[in-house]
Amino acid sequence: MHIPKIVEIKRIIDETEMVKTFIFDWEVKDEKPGHFMMVWNFHDEKPMSLSIINPVNNEIGISIKKVGEFTEAVHQMEVGDELGLRGPLGCGFEIVGSKILAVGGGIGMAPIAAFVEDARSKGADVHVISAAKTKNELLFIERLERIGANVYACTDDGSYGFHGFAGELAEKLLKESNNNQYNMLVTCGPELMMKGIFDIVNKYKVQAQFSLERYMKCAIGLCGQCCVDDTGWRVCVEGPVFSKDDLKLISEFGKYKRDASGIKHLMP
Ligand SMILES: Cc1cc2nc3c(=O)[nH]c(=O)nc-3n(C[C@H](O)[C@H](O)[C@H](O)COP(=O)(O)OP(=O)(O)OC[C@H]3O[C@@H](n4cnc5c(N)ncnc54)[C@H](O)[C@@H]3O)c2cc1C
Ligand code: FES
Repeated sequence: MHIPKIVEIKRIIDETEMVKTFIFDWEVKDEKPGHFMMVWNFHDEKPMSLSIINPVNNEIGISIKKVGEFTEAVHQMEVGDELGLRGPLGCGFEIVGSKILAVGGGIGMAPIAAFVEDARSKGADVHVISAAKTKNELLFIERLERIGANVYACTDDGSYGFHGFAGELAEKLLKESNNNQYNMLVTCGPELMMKGIFDIVNKYKVQAQFSLERYMKCAIGLCGQCCVDDTGWRVCVEGPVFSKDDLKLISEFGKYKRDASGIKHLMP
């Protein structure tokens, strides 16, 4: 697990202008939604969530948003090119109950898509909010509708689906569910979106799990780069998925995160 396995890119799906999914042959054993891989392009290594876990075809996939040097380099790669994959790493989402609300913002939909497929295959009734700034950035709507999830699109600019933020739509669904309560909510996306959802799940007393992002280097709990205040939990080992109760103890959640030098950056 600590040494990258060199694999060929088997297929590439152009999801949007900025996001591509890369699929690999992989013997699926302990991989769970919420786990991530350290992806090595022989120059640099970066964390990416599993967005596809297919134990039937023995395939995994990662969905990468082009945001900087590493992700742009991977976007240039083609079928047959090689990458190193180290993982699965971290702890994943747990399925609690049979009626679940899953909320993904932007590229945060990557682990959410893998979770929804897993929960549906185990018979759960899953409602999904796929949120993005605008229509062209929405992810995985048809893929998740095909497996019977109830998908709500949500855009900041109202160009498709619900006009507003994911938290507003999540609150609307929780309020409307009344006697038909959701057993749990899972979410991944921009931290300020998740902070809003954290406040909402506390208000409606719903169990919830959140996938956090922090700068990672070793990704196996040694370097301390990804530790969060005040608990010192390593996001790469104790996370990236944390429960609502865990998050109450992470004082930096929604406030700041550290860069590669350990310097704090306040969230806008
Ligand atoms: C657990 C986890 C899962 C992730 N899953 C996905 C995913 O499924 N798809 C996806 O597109 N992105 C994912 N990311 C984010 C992804 O790792 C960064 O976007 C990527 O590293 C950016 O590298 P870059 O060189 O292209 O951009 P840069 O210009 O270097 O950075 C752009 C942004 O990415 C962040 N970043 C850069 N390096 C790292 C690093 N080593 N660790 C964490 N963040 C970093 C920076 O803080 C900055 O905010 C995940 C991050 C974490 C921690
Ligand atoms: S990245 Fe080194 S401890 Fe988490």
